[in-house]
Amino acid sequence: MARPYAEVIGDPIAHSKSPKIHGFWLEALGIEADYRATHVAPHALPAYFAARKADPDWRGCNITVPHKIAALEHVEDREDMRSAIGAINTAFRDADGALVSTNTDAAGFAAPLKACDLAGKSVTVIGAGGAGRAVLYALAGIGVGPVTLFNRNVDKGAALLSSFGMKGQALPIGEAVPPGALVVNATSLGMTGQPPLHLDLSALPDDAVVYDIVYAPLETGLLAAARARGLATIDGLDMLIGQAAVAFERFFGAAPPRERDAELRKILLG
Ligand code: ATR
Repeated sequence: MARPYAEVIGDPIAHSKSPKIHGFWLEALGIEADYRATHVAPHALPAYFAARKADPDWRGCNITVPHKIAALEHVEDREDMRSAIGAINTAFRDADGALVSTNTDAAGFAAPLKACDLAGKSVTVIGAGGAGRAVLYALAGIGVGPVTLFNRNVDKGAALLSSFGMKGQALPIGEAVPPGALVVNATSLGMTGQPPLHLDLSALPDDAVVYDIVYAPLETGLLAAARARGLATIDGLDMLIGQAAVAFERFFGAAPPRERDAELRKILLG
């Protein structure tokens, strides 16, 4: 057999940070395997999966835009991510050899929150798209209390809350953030080239945490405002590395060396 490998597929794909993350961990652990970025156009997705399923060296793939829904047709969705999150981002071979899928975004999002006691607490989420769905799925799993969901399209926000059976309210972006333990930006607002996200954080208690899934720039306007108020923050690289860590274990059967996150973050920002 040749060297085992995994990869990230998308269209476009050149911007992906996944090869740097998985490559760093493979080298750190001395695992003889590769992780690469592979451009797959939408029409080529069926042929891609057919070829990889027949390749014994292939351990699986991360799946990014625009394949996160279409890829469901080529894998066994044993965790029912189609109804839970509506999308997958990882395919790998299960112990029985079947090609199965998961969505590591929710676990990657939740990982940095492990130290926070959020059960039953009020939280605020901005965004009701694909990322917002993964965030709400994770927060439902944590068992948070009422959710204030800000979204430009308020009806979409309300529909998302009710699809998870969560208590709370949907509001337009711009209203003041109510008191609560956590605020999460799950939109692209604040990302380089996108409009900024202006939120009034004055009602938050001093022990609230502000979490932005945007990582370019790393310090978004939201995180800068939170820091200026003395609040704890979690940035988008934490989630990016967290979701990759869950996938890495599935591909290569080893836990990544998370004690070296500081070094990895420098590489990703360099
Ligand atoms: P993703 O998978 O990254 O979540 P998406 O499914 O397209 O992408 O969702 C984008 C999210 O960002 C949505 O919450 C969207 O608001 P709408 O549901 O009202 O469309 C939000 N968003 C994107 N651009 C925005 C903008 N310029 N102003 C306000 N919200 C924006």
